[in-house]
Amino acid sequence: MASPNGRRSSTEDSLVYIRRSLKSEEMDHLEGTHFDFSFPHVFITLGASGDLAKKKIYPTLWWLFRDNLLPKTTIFFGYARSKLTVAELREKYQKYMKLKPGEEERYEEFWKLNHYVAGSYDTRKDFELLNQELERHENGKNAHRLFYLALPPSIFEPVTVHIKNNCMGKKGWTRIIIEKPFGRDAVTSQQLSDHLASLFKEEQIYRIDHYLGKEMVQNLMTLRFGNKIFSPTWNRDNIASVQITFKEPFGTQGRGGYFDEFGIIRDVMQNHLLQILSLFAMEKPASCHPDDIRNEKVKVLKCITPVDVDDVVLGQYVGNPEAVDPDERLGYLQDTTVPENSNTPTYALAVLRINNERWDGVPFILRCGKALNERKAEVRVQYQDVPGDIFDGKAKRNELVIRVQPGEALYIKMMTKSPGITFDMEETELDLTYGNRYKDLKLPDAYERLILDVFCGSQMHFVRSDELSEAWRIFTPLLHRIENEKIRPISYKHGSRGPKEADEMAKHNNFMYYGSYKWVRPQHH
Ligand code: BG6
Repeated sequence: MASPNGRRSSTEDSLVYIRRSLKSEEMDHLEGTHFDFSFPHVFITLGASGDLAKKKIYPTLWWLFRDNLLPKTTIFFGYARSKLTVAELREKYQKYMKLKPGEEERYEEFWKLNHYVAGSYDTRKDFELLNQELERHENGKNAHRLFYLALPPSIFEPVTVHIKNNCMGKKGWTRIIIEKPFGRDAVTSQQLSDHLASLFKEEQIYRIDHYLGKEMVQNLMTLRFGNKIFSPTWNRDNIASVQITFKEPFGTQGRGGYFDEFGIIRDVMQNHLLQILSLFAMEKPASCHPDDIRNEKVKVLKCITPVDVDDVVLGQYVGNPEAVDPDERLGYLQDTTVPENSNTPTYALAVLRINNERWDGVPFILRCGKALNERKAEVRVQYQDVPGDIFDGKAKRNELVIRVQPGEALYIKMMTKSPGITFDMEETELDLTYGNRYKDLKLPDAYERLILDVFCGSQMHFVRSDELSEAWRIFTPLLHRIENEKIRPISYKHGSRGPKEADEMAKHNNFMYYGSYKWVRPQHH
């Protein structure tokens, strides 16, 4: 299947990847069984009529199928309480599938491979029925089964018990994919982990943090360990502070009921931002094996002391009466699904400290918020001032910026002599903007990469239970204090930068904001 220029096709790449991972799987779990590539792979979405299934899972499965990235033998099952037909499901999801002209035939093939079973989540006989349907379509062969739990956490437990008792693949493997929330504090998360561990082996459990599927997050390892230039400066001797930011320009948009139970710290900081931090700050792993990497992530998390409430700024957005956009005129408490007088933060800045030889004294500033002035996720590494200044304080600090989204980019802010007959200096950048450097680049969505990883049996980009428990250890005392003491968040205007107290706290933690430089996304030529 090699193309004329010698490059393998994407199908071939993914199958090579699948075969390679299955070799080790074979040794671990399928000992004695001859691995047969004609085994059907069955992807079962539980909660198939819900929001996550509609917006993410079905579109992702379609794109992977369209691009020939799945094993040829894959079939798809949906399971939910609503009595639906596949045709109805298809109709309901049409607008999210982003079907392009010319793809109609392939799209038909995709839906032909889809099946749907209606059943409840707490009745054994419904899962027996699901199993019978699965077996019927597996044609009596051994099959590999992937269960995606697109379900509210309140039913994780009964559903996983029913899967274990009624729906395990006989000789093929069974893998379980789950989404956050993984509990709401250290204790409840541990209960969930213990429950899952009583049913499945850790290597069968895939905890999704979709930030681990993003291009620039996956790039962190290469950037750090594939370049001589960065490693020697990646420490307390050179770096003043590290800021990891997540900003969204919209509020809860009717999702306030869910959001209010969790708040921004559980929704974004404890998972997405902390995952980025651990990949950024960990020591070099012994190899690229998923467990070597995850061992290092756990190790660095263990060096982080629980966040103190004095190192945190909390905010909640209020409507901006002057805004043109009617949505921006609304505050969090005006979302009808949010309880009256809720104290839930929609913005948080927290300063974390890593007590190890590399990072002692370097503040890691995590900040995230909804209803802010822009959509942006990035890591900003600010270097220290140049010692022995000869430029009258004009040299601004270097910054390495890893822009996760939108518009993936890596750039280094640096000083140069202003060009021409002058000895002045100015801020400029070394810029690697992906859209410019890689023409016509189309990066896969995070879910595409992650779901494909599950087919391949690669846990590199999934959260292991010990990582999760460290993440909760760091945030649980803070979360409990916020809730028990009913700490009131500071109001900030919908569409603003967030509370000014947050900028002040960043400043006190060795992050200099000059206001003199703005990165301009380069235009395509
Ligand atoms: C989710 C959060 O995990 O991530 C949402 O629950 C948030 O509140 C979303 O909007 C952001 O994801 P992305 O990929 O759009 O940055």
